[in-house]
Amino acid sequence: MNSKKVAGEKAVEFIKDGMTIGLGTGTTTYYTIVKLAEKVKDGLKVKAISTSNKTTELAEKLGIEIVPFNEVDYVDLTIDGADEVDNLLNGIKGGGGALLYEKLVAMSSKKVIWVVDNSKKVHCLGRFPLPVEVVPFAYNQIFNKLEELKLNPEIRKRDSNYYLTDGQHYIIDLFLNKIEDPYKLEKTLKSIPGVVETGLFLQIANTVIVGNGDQVQIIEKS
Ligand code: A5P
Repeated sequence: MNSKKVAGEKAVEFIKDGMTIGLGTGTTTYYTIVKLAEKVKDGLKVKAISTSNKTTELAEKLGIEIVPFNEVDYVDLTIDGADEVDNLLNGIKGGGGALLYEKLVAMSSKKVIWVVDNSKKVHCLGRFPLPVEVVPFAYNQIFNKLEELKLNPEIRKRDSNYYLTDGQHYIIDLFLNKIEDPYKLEKTLKSIPGVVETGLFLQIANTVIVGNGDQVQIIEKS
């Protein structure tokens, strides 16, 4: 069995009738959305908030109505993927470029569940390049600053153009290998003018559902 499918589908069991649900982005939440759509067809009532254009497209195609984020005051539960998760349930997100809306929705959520396959579990964050979303107007200045800080920046490209996020920003990936102090790094990055958001999601996830073959492990934040 596909580990992503097992994790993604398991999370749907946490969705209750009447909830406002944040729908994450990526290949694991894909399975969550497909499963949720089945339940909606069977009569489950939810309000769904999307974290990306891609997720909106998929959800709507499957018959899940997406409500604008500004029309809700909070989200009951957000289910999202992650690129890395450590033992404290801190993580890196944004491999798929949706980190800004993902973080905004997560920060308004009463509960956040991440769905991942076993390969995403790490002891120390940083092997996965850390995405930083920046305003295009100053990307060169921000890039130089990141280089000065020895953070190994690389501007993300799609084909031969700079990758453009749903929020019309660029992404600079930091090739760090190991992040000794994610809190300090988050503070440093956020202090650079023009940095819109980072892919460091610290103290945000409450629960992580890990798929491993046909097994599923549920880790709760201690
Ligand atoms: C999107 O920008 C990301 O934060 C994804 O949630 C993350 O990359 C996990 O994606 P997969 O489930 O496709 O691995």
